[in-house]
Amino acid sequence: EKGGYAHFMLKEIHEGPRTVQDTLRGRLAKEERIAFPGLSLTPQDLQRFERIAIVGCGTAYHAGAVGKRWLEQWLRRPVEISVASEFRYSDPIVGPDTLVILISQSGETADTLAAMREAKARGATTLAIVNVIGSTLAREADAVILTQAGPEIGVASTKAYLAQLVVLALLGLFLAQLESPGGLPPHLQTLVSALPEMPQLLERCLQQEEAIKALARKLVSSKSFFYLGRGLDYATALEAALKLKEISYLHAEAYPAGEMKHGPLALIEPGVAVIGISTQSLTREKMESNLKEVKARQGTVVVVEPEGVVSDGADERIVLPSAPDYLMPILAIAPLQLLAYYIARERGCDIDQPRNLAKSVTVE
Ligand code: M6R
Repeated sequence: EKGGYAHFMLKEIHEGPRTVQDTLRGRLAKEERIAFPGLSLTPQDLQRFERIAIVGCGTAYHAGAVGKRWLEQWLRRPVEISVASEFRYSDPIVGPDTLVILISQSGETADTLAAMREAKARGATTLAIVNVIGSTLAREADAVILTQAGPEIGVASTKAYLAQLVVLALLGLFLAQLESPGGLPPHLQTLVSALPEMPQLLERCLQQEEAIKALARKLVSSKSFFYLGRGLDYATALEAALKLKEISYLHAEAYPAGEMKHGPLALIEPGVAVIGISTQSLTREKMESNLKEVKARQGTVVVVEPEGVVSDGADERIVLPSAPDYLMPILAIAPLQLLAYYIARERGCDIDQPRNLAKSVTVE
């Protein structure tokens, strides 16, 4: 059932392009308009909300961290993001004017279910982005959008994350469409046009597998890993660091790149690997200087950047196909999933069943 792959995780990483395609299917009409057939919220319902809150755990929360930035920028409306286990006990400011978006692969995560029930009790409308049809979250939420990732077996979530990103991008652009009946502004219409290209671009990211395997061999003896990024790249950094931690048992943490100098830079010394994710033109120069600060302390620097950009001073590069900056999170995660996978494999870890973890966490 692993289709010739050594692990479900590797198979599922390679199913990424198809997952993106399946998640787009039926939602991107020919005339380049986004639609969610079967969504039980009307355009009127959706336009009524003054606030949006996004809630999830682990990888689903990280997808939400990307979604928050997209929705906020595209709709110019405040969007909050919370870890589900924190949301419930935070006396959250949600009510009838709030759309609470709950993200979950399994639809059975106890923290996320508890957050949904709390949001409902406060009169908010709940929208679940979920992979498993018929799951508790899908049944209880007011409205559901299915990700089309198919069954995900590996405990480390990979293709489900991509599907969550694609749904969030579609949802953000769909809501933006409702707000501009005369047509989306050009910078958003460009994204709608670029979405169908993503599966093929993602396929190109995965073609670097051999180079990433070699990079994994170089990095495997590092004592600690930092994943740095700014804005959308920080959200990618969070997810990339989680992947490495959970399957390789190595210490990894994500930091907003600009925060390093406010403390964590003290940890940088030879033997510390720093993965700088730099896909956003707005912050490219700042990222470059943040990575130089790391290099000066003799950390090993790997930069992840689009083709045509060469940041100064990196020891290693992972090159991504170019795409609109907003959509880069969909591409940047794939090589970092592979990197985590091959580092864990070098270490002989039980990749599909990491110690102490379960696929679906049904206790709070
Ligand atoms: O099924 P869910 O998406 O609700 O699960 C949430 C987290 O438990 C899950 O994403 C977890 O963080 C993964 N093991 C990460 O790879």
